[in-house]
Amino acid sequence: MKLQDKVAIVTGAGSGMGEAIAKRYAKEGAKVVLADLNEANLKRVVSEIEEAGGVAIGVLANVAKEEDVERLVDETMKAYGKLSILVNNAGIMDNFKTVGSLDDETWDKVIAVNLTGPMKLSRAALKVMTEAQEGVIINNASIGGLFGARGGAAYVASKHGLIGLTKNMAVTHGKDGKIRVNGIAPGAVNTHIGETITAPDPLGMEIIQQTGQSLTAEADQIAGVALFLASNDASFVNGHIIVADGGWTAR
Ligand SMILES: NC(=O)c1ccc[n+]([C@@H]2O[C@H](COP(=O)([O-])OP(=O)(O)OC[C@H]3O[C@@H](n4cnc5c(N)ncnc54)[C@H](O)[C@@H]3O)[C@@H](O)[C@H]2O)c1
Repeated sequence: MKLQDKVAIVTGAGSGMGEAIAKRYAKEGAKVVLADLNEANLKRVVSEIEEAGGVAIGVLANVAKEEDVERLVDETMKAYGKLSILVNNAGIMDNFKTVGSLDDETWDKVIAVNLTGPMKLSRAALKVMTEAQEGVIINNASIGGLFGARGGAAYVASKHGLIGLTKNMAVTHGKDGKIRVNGIAPGAVNTHIGETITAPDPLGMEIIQQTGQSLTAEADQIAGVALFLASNDASFVNGHIIVADGGWTAR
């Protein structure tokens, strides 16, 4: 088991990639703290992990709220006494809004959840990790963090920011090799995030459709990447963004 004796927080673990990552980590021996806004899904995923023989708790938390991210780390320490791995996975989309059609509310919310939340949760986690001189942070970004045409303005900006944050934390907090910070840039993945696209901006949609996407992954295919980055197999990987897009960016 690759994560024996490790303790991991996974945000957005009630659905999609977060759920798959939490389940994969538990299967590999980690004690997992699942965080999400959706209480029913949290309960479901925790009980599915327990039924499969894993160890997990669920914490109802909004990553965009400072008091929630502080409580999340506190509850992890109370339950398991340490924090080895943080996966900043929770994220939301923006209806592909262009700057021309963007309202402040969408911008503020997307930046708060996709960028400010991971910064604040990493800040809380790094206090514990720095003291323990051990830790891995994994940020689930997107190919929208590398290309302009894979989301709306707020989503693309938030994911570019998350990739910058990943590299900055890697070179500052990971400079002695004890703490590692990496990112994942998935292409299209079959999850529930598409259901949150309610009124897509026509220009934003047109650009997405022009650039196309040939393959769609299942969430567990991204969980495999998150397992590699969390494990000692990646012990010399720091500040790196693994693109997992079935070849889209290679075209
Ligand atoms: N699905 C894709 O095609 C795709 C591609 C690239 C990157 N991503 C990124 O992967 C991550 C996971 O997305 P997914 O596709 O699995 O989506 P999903 O919608 O299936 O799951 C996201 C989970 O995050 C939770 N969540 C949302 N806002 C939250 C908040 N403020 N606090 C706590 N939890 C919150 C939701 O309740 C949900 O359970 C996101 O960051 C997303 O941007 C998705």
